[in-house]
This record gives sequence, structure tokens and C-alpha cells, in this order.
Amino acid sequence: MRHFLSIAQATGEQLRHVLDVALELRGQRRRGVAHRPVLAGRTLAMIFEKPSLRTRVSFEQGMFELGGHAIRLGHEEVGLGVRESPADIARVLSGMVHGIMARVYEHRKVVELAGASDVPVINALSDESHPCQALADAMTLMDEFGRDLTGRTLAFIGDGNNVARSLATLCGKLGMRFVLACPQGYELSPMLADDLQQGLPATARVVRDPIEAVREADAIYTDTWVSMGQEEQAVKRRAAFKGYQVNASLLAAAPAWAVVLHCMPAHRNVEITDEVMDGPRSRVVPQAHNRLHAQKGLLAALLGGV
Ligand code: CP
Repeated sequence: MRHFLSIAQATGEQLRHVLDVALELRGQRRRGVAHRPVLAGRTLAMIFEKPSLRTRVSFEQGMFELGGHAIRLGHEEVGLGVRESPADIARVLSGMVHGIMARVYEHRKVVELAGASDVPVINALSDESHPCQALADAMTLMDEFGRDLTGRTLAFIGDGNNVARSLATLCGKLGMRFVLACPQGYELSPMLADDLQQGLPATARVVRDPIEAVREADAIYTDTWVSMGQEEQAVKRRAAFKGYQVNASLLAAAPAWAVVLHCMPAHRNVEITDEVMDGPRSRVVPQAHNRLHAQKGLLAALLGGV
């Protein structure tokens, strides 16, 4: 795996390897065992066109814990595609750092970075894909159900957005079923991203009724109804998604063992109620913590050759 732009670019075997490394590193950290400094002398440039808490901290802390260094580059200073082309930025950074991570609006920008880069490029969220989040989500599901997730069902309630698209592909790679419950017009659209160039996995389906989606779910996932850059559609979207809230009555229709996930930031009492978010079946906080461990696994594999 040279770059990590989408889940589709990785094989199931490569994903499982990254997750194995992540689990091993998390175990060491929890036991207080020092990591091998596999990224000593290595630097990651992190380009952000959008705000971030989890992604920024997990990558920067992950580089630090593995002996490396990270440089945050804000859009105002880099001007990805404005001040300079993604390709020129990648050519310059390739001679200075050992990896490039970018959070962008348009997916084509991470593709252009990767096309001109001599060092690995990681997609830290684009409008079409959020593969790093999906890695942490797989880890959280493994914590709950064991390493073999074959036959498990993930129900995504809400918008067929970048997070949903990456999860649909991830489920296909790990032998899981994926069900999206969404209003008409908000399905997983056939975007340019690799995630969907391969086509939706046979195990993915779209339904209208959230109750139908959760009836056999092992995990119920939701995300914001208004993603970054869609703020002008907020009123229309909130109206469209009324009835798709993850709340106690929806949870009551799911199997007793089903857990609840959210990639955060959450809009409490909009797409998910406080009661569910803070309730006993919620795994959203360990899920967020797994961003650190998953990113360490990915960095060790891509930049450290682990
Ligand atoms: N889930 C996620 O990507 O969080 P941030 O936007 O805070 O990085």
C-alpha cells in the first residue's frame, strides 16, 4: 500500500495488517511498554483545509509516540490549489518530509497530491471518503465483536456521506453487511472516489425505514446531517432527516447487543439524543480514542515499513 486515499485502495489483508499493528501498539501503550521508535527521524506534513480535533491530534500525537515529528500546515498558509497546485506542493514536500496527510474539500486534491508525491499520501477526509475514520471504526467493532467481523451488520442511519461511503466499502472488505437508512436523494451517490468506482459491495443495501435498518444490526452508526461545506443546506437537510434520529425508540428495535457509534463531532439531540450518546450502549468515546491507535498503525505501516 503506497498511499491511503480510500478504503477501496487497500485489500482486506492490508487493512487487517494495519489493524493488527494498531491493536499491538494500543496494547503496549496500555501496559506502559515503550514503543520501538519506528518513525525516528521521520516527519509528516499535515495539510488542513477544514477544522479538526480527532484527526489532527491523533496524527500529531501518533507521530510523536512513534518517535517521529509532525508539521501542521493550515490552508491559509499552504493555499492548496490556490497559492500553489497540489502537484507542486507534493513535489516540494516529497524532498523535505516522509509523508503527507491532507484534509480537503475536493477529493481530487488528495489524488493530485498522491500523483506527484514520492512519499505516502494519506487522505484525512475528503468530501467523498474518510478512510482513517473507517479504520478506527473497524477497530472499535473488533473490540466489541472480536477480530473476525464476518457476517456482522452495520446500520448507518442518515446521510450517505463520505463516512458512510468509506464504511460501506470497509464492510465489504471485512465480510460485513452494510445497511444505509436515508431519505430519498441522500443515498451513497456514485462519486469519483475509488470507494465507489469498485461499486458498492454486494453486502450493502439502502432502505428508507430506520427501524428496518437496525432490526438485525450489531452496530448502529450515525453522523451529522450537515457536513462541512453544506451549511447553506442546513434547513433543508434537517427537514429531510427528521425521523432519522438515533434515539431510544430506534435503539429498542435493535438487538439487545447492538452498540452505537458516531464519528463525532456530534450535534446532540439532532442526529443522536443525549440519552443514547451517553448511554450504556454508546461506544463513541472509545471509538474516538481508537483514532489515535488506528492512525499509529497506519503510520507505522506506511512510513515505518512495519
Ligand atoms: N471524526 C473526525 O474526523 O473528527 P475531526 O473532524 O475532529 O478530525
